Amino acid sequence: MDVFEALEKRHSVRSFKTDPVPVEMIERIMRAASLAPSAMNEQPWRFYVTTGETRRRVGEAMAQGTTHLEEFIDVMGAELHAEAVRWYSELGNAPVVIVCTMPKAADEFWRMNKHLSIGAAIENILLAATAQGLGACNITFSFYVRDELAATLEIPEDRTIIAIVALGYPDEVQPAPAAHNPDIAVFLD
Ligand SMILES: Cc1cc2nc3c(=O)[nH]c(=O)nc-3n(C[C@H](O)[C@H](O)[C@H](O)COP(=O)(O)O)c2cc1C
Repeated sequence: MDVFEALEKRHSVRSFKTDPVPVEMIERIMRAASLAPSAMNEQPWRFYVTTGETRRRVGEAMAQGTTHLEEFIDVMGAELHAEAVRWYSELGNAPVVIVCTMPKAADEFWRMNKHLSIGAAIENILLAATAQGLGACNITFSFYVRDELAATLEIPEDRTIIAIVALGYPDEVQPAPAAHNPDIAVFLD
C-alpha cells in the first residue's frame, strides 16, 4: 500500500477481532517503528509487545484506571462515561497491546525531543498496521496507571510509559470518520 493510501485509510480502530496477529506482521510493525526519526538519532523508544496472559494483565491495570474517568463524568454525561469505562476495560478486545516507553528525562528540552521521537515511532506503527490490513489506536489514557503497568511488565525504573497502542484485526461497522480540518497551513512567501 502506498504511503498516501495508508495515511488516508488510517483511523483509530476501537473494536477488534480476537484473532491473533501473526508475529511476522508485528515484526514488520516494529521494524517500521525503528525507522522513525528521533532527536540526535537517540532512538529513545522501547516497546513492550503484549499478547496472551501479559495482555490480559495490561487490561486489568487499564480497568483500574477507569476510576479516573469519574473526574470527567459531568462533561461526558453518564452514558458516555459508562461506555468509556467499558471501552478502557476491554480495549476493544485487542489481542495485542504495545506499551510504548522512553527514558525519564528531567530536562524539558530533552523530554520534548523524546516525546516527539516516540510520537513519530507510534505514527509509523499506526501506518504499518494500516498497510497490513490491521487496525490500531494510540491511547494515552494509560497515563493514569503507568506505574501499575510498569510494575506488571517489569519496566526498568529509568523508563516511563508514554502511551499504549491497541492492535489487531479491525471488527467495526463502517466507522464515522473523525473530522480532520485540511486548512492547517499558513503559506508565507
Ligand atoms: C497523543 C494521542 C493520544 C490519544 N489518546 C487516546 C486515548 O487515550 N483514548 C482513545 O480512545 N483515543 C486516543 N487517541 C486517538 C484520538 O482520539 C484520535 O486519533 C482522534 O480522535 C482522531 O481520530 P482518527 O485517529 O480516527 O483520525 C489519541 C491520539 C493521540 C495522537
